[in-house]
Amino acid sequence: MTPPLIRTICCIGAGYVGGPTMAVIADRCPAVQVTVVDINQARIDAWNAEDLSKLPVYEPGLDAVVARARGRNLHFSTAVEEQIAAADMVFISVNTPTKTKGLGAGQASDLRWVEACARSVAKAATGHTIVVEKSTLPVRTAEAVQSILAAADPNGGARSFSVLSNPEFLAEGTAIRDLEAPDRVLIGGEDPAAIEALAAIYASWVPDERILRTNLWSSELSKLTANAFLAQRISSINSIAAFCEATGADVREVARAIGTDSRIGPKFLQAGPGFGGSCFQKDILNLVYLCRHFGLPEVADYWESVVQLNTWHQHRIAKLVVQKLFGTVTGKRLAILGFAFKADTNDTREAPAIRICRDLLEEGAQLAIHDPKVEPDQIERDLRLPASEAPDAEAGPTRAALSGEGTWWSSAAVEDALAGADAVLILTEWQHYRSLDWAALAPLMRQPAWVFDARSVVDPAAVAAAGLKFWRIGEGQA
Ligand code: NAD
Ligand code: UGA
Repeated sequence: MTPPLIRTICCIGAGYVGGPTMAVIADRCPAVQVTVVDINQARIDAWNAEDLSKLPVYEPGLDAVVARARGRNLHFSTAVEEQIAAADMVFISVNTPTKTKGLGAGQASDLRWVEACARSVAKAATGHTIVVEKSTLPVRTAEAVQSILAAADPNGGARSFSVLSNPEFLAEGTAIRDLEAPDRVLIGGEDPAAIEALAAIYASWVPDERILRTNLWSSELSKLTANAFLAQRISSINSIAAFCEATGADVREVARAIGTDSRIGPKFLQAGPGFGGSCFQKDILNLVYLCRHFGLPEVADYWESVVQLNTWHQHRIAKLVVQKLFGTVTGKRLAILGFAFKADTNDTREAPAIRICRDLLEEGAQLAIHDPKVEPDQIERDLRLPASEAPDAEAGPTRAALSGEGTWWSSAAVEDALAGADAVLILTEWQHYRSLDWAALAPLMRQPAWVFDARSVVDPAAVAAAGLKFWRIGEGQA
């Protein structure tokens, strides 16, 4: 068996996964022409922007990789079918969100974009084409992709297809590091030649022992399982954080104590405002849906509780802020530091800040929101509320504010966000928030003022010395 040599790759979907993943493949495989295609013209224009700070995805190190490869063997285009026709290998890296209506609404994956890709490949491909599922998909999706491709040439024409599963494990904010030195690359398939053709691409920079080969279904299911296990750890530590607050224990000490057990390990034990991101919730809900479908309701309930705990935990944080501020935040200014779902990304999908801010707006709070990378119009979409004018920090609560209508505005500087605020909530662990000068910031706030640190990034002693009241996640009163 000689694996076919891959000279041209087309990736459908120029998003958080397709863009960075193909940039790294192009960078590491200069002999392969890589084109990322998308139906979103604005996104493709942004990938082609001369100014690399305007790329549609913010990822540390991405600009350098794109600068090396773009125009040489990395291209971005909206000519979807033309690029499929030219490709030896087509990656499908489109969005697979949770269905919002119809059968399985709220849990099952919406596969309409994946199916559209399979149909585009069926229509436009030429010769032998290896189709790689890069999107995270329900187990057995490859069957549907194979059926659509098989129907393309019912009489066994000159074209042929092999379908592989190659899920992506990168995390946002560390995508380039994760792609350049992955813990493992997973390839599932039935056609050994196709598997080896894809393995040969990765072998340009990934040691062979880290390239795992499995059957299609194990590969698809491993991706859902990995995300479910990671999210489960976060819900576990956040549940213990709440218990620490009730009992006088400290979740950081508990995490250190259990994390030194080599069987548990220290990673993913950071208590916080709950997990966000586009995938953990959607992938677990998909797993829940599949388990029910396959007649395993107890297994479904087990995984569903991971998401339920996360939702409860986010409401809990909003509630305790209200309670500490004398039971009401109506008309009060609160500074929100961080809106992205984690540091080093501009992504706000399922960010904990969304649920927490919505709860506070519902209580009539006036939110000054600061994030170094998230654009105000994105916050507007997430909160489903237009931004207001920033009020005069000296003015005190206005009659409009006390009417109970929650409002928000975007602050370009932390100092502006804190001016006149009764409290500050840290919801994203941006490096900048670790070194804030609390002695200088405290006098800008209305006293008595609180710091709520949901990410354990500030120095409690510095906050106390500045005369501010302090709450942080998982810290009980001893
Ligand atoms: P995204 O929404 O950022 O990007 C998807 C892109 O696909 C969009 O730009 C959209 O316009 C394009 N698209 C949709 N249908 C198309 C079609 N028919 N033809 C051409 N373009 C089309 O999504 P993402 O975050 O990159 O995620 C993609 C997949 O990867 C999902 O299945 C996700 O679960 C998985 N995943 C994401 C991450 C992550 O960190 N974001 C990590 C691992 C896996
Ligand atoms: C996650 C996985 O880590 C990736 O392996 C996977 O490829 C990806 O989902 C996906 O399929 O989309 P990502 O969501 O980008 O990556 O980021 P994570 O670092 O996993 O963080 C997810 C959420 O958990 C964030 O809100 C983060 O703040 C939170 N988190 C993480 C904690 O609260 N505590 C921790 O200890 C770790």
